[in-house]
Amino acid sequence: METTDELTVRPVRPADEARILEITKDVWEGRDYIPRVFDRWVSDAGAEFQAAEIDGEVVAVQRIRPYAPGLVWYEGLRVASTHRRRGIARAMLDAAVEEARQQGFREMRLATRDRPAVELFESAGFRRLVEMRWWRGLRVEGGEPSRIPDPSEAPRLWSMASASKGIELYGGICPDMNGARDLDAHELERLAREGLVRVGPGGRALALLREPWGQNVAVSLLAGSGGALREVLLALRFEADADGLKHVTVNLPPGHPAEDDLRASGYDFADAERSAYIYALTL
Ligand SMILES: CC(C)(COP(=O)(O)OP(=O)(O)OC[C@H]1O[C@@H](n2cnc3c(N)ncnc32)[C@H](O)[C@@H]1OP(=O)(O)O)[C@@H](O)C(=O)NCCC(=O)NCCS
Repeated sequence: METTDELTVRPVRPADEARILEITKDVWEGRDYIPRVFDRWVSDAGAEFQAAEIDGEVVAVQRIRPYAPGLVWYEGLRVASTHRRRGIARAMLDAAVEEARQQGFREMRLATRDRPAVELFESAGFRRLVEMRWWRGLRVEGGEPSRIPDPSEAPRLWSMASASKGIELYGGICPDMNGARDLDAHELERLAREGLVRVGPGGRALALLREPWGQNVAVSLLAGSGGALREVLLALRFEADADGLKHVTVNLPPGHPAEDDLRASGYDFADAERSAYIYALTL
């Protein structure tokens, strides 16, 4: 597929690994996650991991991954530092959007924390669904993890969560940074089936977990408040300890009432400077 006169986009191949590791070496002070996921991405037939070439040299990559009915997740955009500000990222994104549109997807979503990327996505028409700050609570010994509800409890939990203060700050989605789905009773049920819901006493608070990126328990959404929520937050720190993990990370929209409960439960800002955002484009 030609995107500009000189840019060719094609699937990434195993033989591209060395070049792609070179491109990612100076991203995020060497902490890019692509080297860790390269083998999985290159062999995953359920997504498109694409490379852009100029004169036979790979200069950029991106990945487009269907993850829920009608939804496609956009990730892994990297342009070699030697080739930036020439419109390569914009051309690749345009091609990805066009492809997803042609395949009949309803919406493309993504997560980012980077200023240049925010500029790129906003100028391409993506709208911000949610802003999130990172909180962290260290593991604590000795207590009981909280209850994992049965999927049949989802409708009741949803009526608590949907009326919970601050829920509107989530923009109608569960902000899982690996693929944000619409937030509703059906999603709660799906997460409960996967064992990713934790509830407080009387079902008056809950935490939704996501697949973590490191040695931690990762929380993408909190609902409920006060004593019930504080019990869940503390129990997550017990759970991290019981699972041999270092800490719990929680993504929370700034200004959410659970900030007070996090502080009261021994959590602090893991990264006060930078927010993460989830964006969406209707196709
Ligand atoms: C973000 C990145 C992909 C942009 O690639 P690029 O090919 O240089 O981007 P383009 O030349 O296509 O620029 C497209 C738009 O992005 C924005 N942009 C790109 N670089 C920018 C920068 N340094 N500062 C501010 N805005 C920037 C601008 O809006 C730009 O449009 P303009 O040139 O009309 O002003 C590249 O800088 C990169 O790989 N960064 C490291 C990894 C990363 O942050 N990836 C995104 C993760 S979601």
